This record gives sequence, structure tokens and C-alpha cells, in this order.
Amino acid sequence: MSMADVFVFAGPPGSGKGTQAKLLAPKLKVPHISLGDLLREAVRSRSKVGEIAKNYLDAGKLVPDNVAIDVAEEAVSRKECKNGFVIDGFPRTLEQAVLFDILLGKLKSNLKKVLYIDIPLEEILKRLTGRRSCRKCGAVYHLTYNPPKKDGICDVCGGELYQRHDDTDEVIKVRYEVYKKQTSPLIDYYTKAGNLVYINGAKDVSEVFKEVSKAVAS
Ligand code: AP5
Repeated sequence: MSMADVFVFAGPPGSGKGTQAKLLAPKLKVPHISLGDLLREAVRSRSKVGEIAKNYLDAGKLVPDNVAIDVAEEAVSRKECKNGFVIDGFPRTLEQAVLFDILLGKLKSNLKKVLYIDIPLEEILKRLTGRRSCRKCGAVYHLTYNPPKKDGICDVCGGELYQRHDDTDEVIKVRYEVYKKQTSPLIDYYTKAGNLVYINGAKDVSEVFKEVSKAVAS
């Protein structure tokens, strides 16, 4: 990896962006930034951004571009990111992608690869309705695919596991429609830019990570 390579995870809700980003970042020894986690944290702490974001998150809609861009810019401009970073959930619209290119230019960072993970809708529904996350450390589990050792308790830190508000059948379907309409045009954008790598997400976590690692090394 050269000085400041940036890897983006894109793909539909529940495709495993967060899971794979959490594996890749320590391997590359760079920070992992998740726009969804930052926005949920803003809602929890009742910050100004959180007040704006809450209704969008609950409804499964995207927060306005200027809000997403400000949050992303603040996160990636930190000195911890100066040697590169892994980001998931951003960019998510064409406008965000264009402004991200400009921002990376300013930071002298290089968008190395956009890892686009794809899975079918029926698998998305299974993954998201079974997801449980730790309130304390953010570790992610799945009731069937990756259950915690003790029901409702995080293996890593002993924190309480919870189900996200937006992981209901109804909101997942909205998120999927929003993804198709607003985010999937990025496939074309990054294919043209020569950054896109397609990853088949409908396999075990470790199998998917093998594909991710191969793409990152190439
Ligand atoms: P965000 O938190 O980014 O949600 P998302 O894109 O819908 O993605 P998810 O976090 O649901 O899924 P994931 O792909 O990370 O999957 P995971 O690894 O957890 O965004 C939430 C909201 O924030 C948005 O709706 C929007 O309101 C707002 N927002 C965020 N970014 C924004 C932006 N840029 N602009 C505007 N608004 C924005 O895996 C899912 C489950 O499957 C887990 O249980 C996991 O254990 C399991 N799993 C993962 N991989 C596998 C596998 N290979 N096999 C079996 N199980 C697996």
C-alpha cells in the first residue's frame, strides 16, 4: 500500500460492507470509517447533526448530501487517516462521489478501489432481520450466521446486543429501493473511473474476505 490509499465499500444494505471493512482495516493498519455508525452515534449523542439525521435513519432514507458530506469530511480529515483509510456507506449518491473525489484531491489521498459487494434481496432480508449489534463496542452478529456465545451479550466486551430500528422488513425494503435509485448509479461512475471491483457477497464471511483481499492486493 502506498502513502494514502483509500478503499470504499459499496453495495446494497446488508451486503456485508461493515463486516468486510472491519476485517480489512486492521489488516491494512488504517482506520475504518462507517458513515452509518457516525450518524447513529450523532443521533445517540443528540448533536445538531443527530437531530437532523434521526428521521431519515428511522425511515430508511438518505440524510441530505450536505450533512453526509460534512460528517465524512470531518472524519477523513483527521490525522489518523493521513496514511489511508477504509470507508463504508460513503459515497452513496453521485453528488457525494463527485465531492469525495475533490476532497481526496485536497487530502492528497488516492481512491484505490471501490469494492462493490452484491447480494440478492432475499438474502438481504435474512441478514438484516437477524442482525444484532453491540451498544458498547459496535461488534456485529447474526442470530444464525454468526451468533454470540451468550444470547444478547457481546463476545468482545460483554455489552448489550440490540436490533437496529431500521432493520424491520418494511424499512429494509425502503432502504433497498433508495439504494437502487440513488446509490446504484455509482456502479457506472466508478466503473468508468476504473476503480470498481465486483465482489460476490453471497458466500461465507471468510470466502468474501478472500475475494476482498485479492482485489486489494491487485
Ligand atoms: P448504514 O449503517 O450504512 O446501513 P446500510 O448501507 O443499509 O448497510 P448496513 O449497515 O445495513 O449493512 P452492511 O452492508 O454494513 O452489512 P453488515 O456487515 O452489517 O446506513 C444506515 C442509514 O444511515 C441509511 O439508511 C441512511 O439513512 C444513513 N446514511 C448512511 N450513509 C449515508 C450517506 N452516505 N448519505 C446519506 N445517508 C447515509 O452485515 C449485515 C448482517 O449480515 C450482519 O448480521 C452480519 O453479521 C451478517 N453477514 C455479513 N456478511 C455475511 C456473510 N458473508 N454471510 C452471512 N452473514 C453475513
